[in-house]
Amino acid sequence: MNLPDMQSAKSRNKERVEFIYSTPIVNNEFNGKKYFIRTYGCQMNVHDSEEIAGLLENIGFESVESEEVADIIILNTCAIRENAHDKVFGFLGRCKHLKELKPDIKIIVCGCMAQEKSVVDEIMSKHKYIDLVFGTHNIHELPNYLMNLTGGLNIEVKSNEGNVFEIGENFKRDSKYVAWVNIMYGCDKFCTYCIVPYTRGKERSRKSKDILKEVECLKMKGYKEVTLLGQNVNAYGNDLEDDLNFAALLEAVAKTGIERIRFVTSHPWNFTDEMIDIIAKYDNIMPYIHLPLQSGSDRILKLMGRRYTKAEYLSLYEKLKSKIKNVAITTDIIVGFPNETEEDFNETLSVVEECKYDGAFTFIYSPREGTPAAKMEDSIPMNVKEERLQKLNEIVNKYSNMNNQKYLNTKQKVLLVGTSEKDNNKLYGYTETMKLVNVDCDKNLVGNIVDVTITEAKSFSLDGIVE
Ligand code: 5AD
Ligand code: SF4
Repeated sequence: MNLPDMQSAKSRNKERVEFIYSTPIVNNEFNGKKYFIRTYGCQMNVHDSEEIAGLLENIGFESVESEEVADIIILNTCAIRENAHDKVFGFLGRCKHLKELKPDIKIIVCGCMAQEKSVVDEIMSKHKYIDLVFGTHNIHELPNYLMNLTGGLNIEVKSNEGNVFEIGENFKRDSKYVAWVNIMYGCDKFCTYCIVPYTRGKERSRKSKDILKEVECLKMKGYKEVTLLGQNVNAYGNDLEDDLNFAALLEAVAKTGIERIRFVTSHPWNFTDEMIDIIAKYDNIMPYIHLPLQSGSDRILKLMGRRYTKAEYLSLYEKLKSKIKNVAITTDIIVGFPNETEEDFNETLSVVEECKYDGAFTFIYSPREGTPAAKMEDSIPMNVKEERLQKLNEIVNKYSNMNNQKYLNTKQKVLLVGTSEKDNNKLYGYTETMKLVNVDCDKNLVGNIVDVTITEAKSFSLDGIVE
């Protein structure tokens, strides 16, 4: 697998970093007002919502758990598949109803859907009760937008070429123990089915010194784990001049001494031996890798623009397994890409049989307007796609369960992060390999990494005790 020639992209970010620190705006207009955020989609959106919450609290807003009692309702949207769209428009129907009862409520739509022209057009023609639409490139402007809202629909969507904004510790983080840290924004891969390069723009890496400063600061505050975030983290630094590549960044983060480091998402094409060696070398880089496969058929991989073959993927997989002790690997798979034959699908199943993943997110292909794949003819009926998904899920679950069984009666280091949803008397946390564990233990242990004996292994979680 060759690294891309990114010379032309280098220096793109040279003069494009802007620092925006949180000076609370003196304005009593929002003191005590209530906000509610509903977040759809990936970790990037979850982290953007942490920024939105931070910005709002900076100007006096307080969070509430229900949209019914909010003064402003924010929908941070996802565009990756059609069902994400449908969920957003479903919730907007509810918001419209609330606004009829309480006309002063402000309804705000942001996130990936806001970057889609067709969605903005639809909002302008059919959803005029919405007060503000803003995009993924200008989140930091939200306080200004709120202060300057005019009656009616305000649209504030910027192009995809935006700067890298450094906003300091402006986040209201969901956890006191585990934190997301953006290392790059956007994606240059343009897989033919994917809308992300259009909604999130070009790859823009943050400077390593800013990332390291953030990690140091989190460590000082007592955070135990950071997850480095990007659509394609292995391409980190390709657009920067005189800065670190991803392997060197990982090493620098490991040297801060923070207890746990994770990263998502990796693209197989950009995964170098140097990265694997660094992951294997440092105990605080967790042995867990999310490595999207998408398809096991070379024909479909080519149509998807994934830049690797089945054999190249498998060889990378084997290298990861052999070099990184006890590594757990999960994946993403799409079934029903246009004209995927039974033979193509069987190639995907054969990779799953070979890799025996710890887990997989599986999807039926969803055409996204504006992407090359959306223009491809497709002769595969939906019921065939559904059958394939079901068959795939059965195999994925079998291996997920099988991998979990290996943990039975072993001792695992678990970072306890909160109260278990299933049983309020228990805490939950994650093993180094990212297995969810519900733990019977003293609740005061929350926030600690403890030795847990695994007493039961299920398909999607483990149970354990602290002895
Ligand atoms: N249809 C179905 N799944 C998709 N994904 C991305 N775009 C689409 C699409 N158009 C899946 C990929 C990706 C994950 C985040 O979502 O598997 O890795
Ligand atoms: Fe989408 Fe491909 Fe970029 Fe992942 S690598 S965000 S699938 S375009």
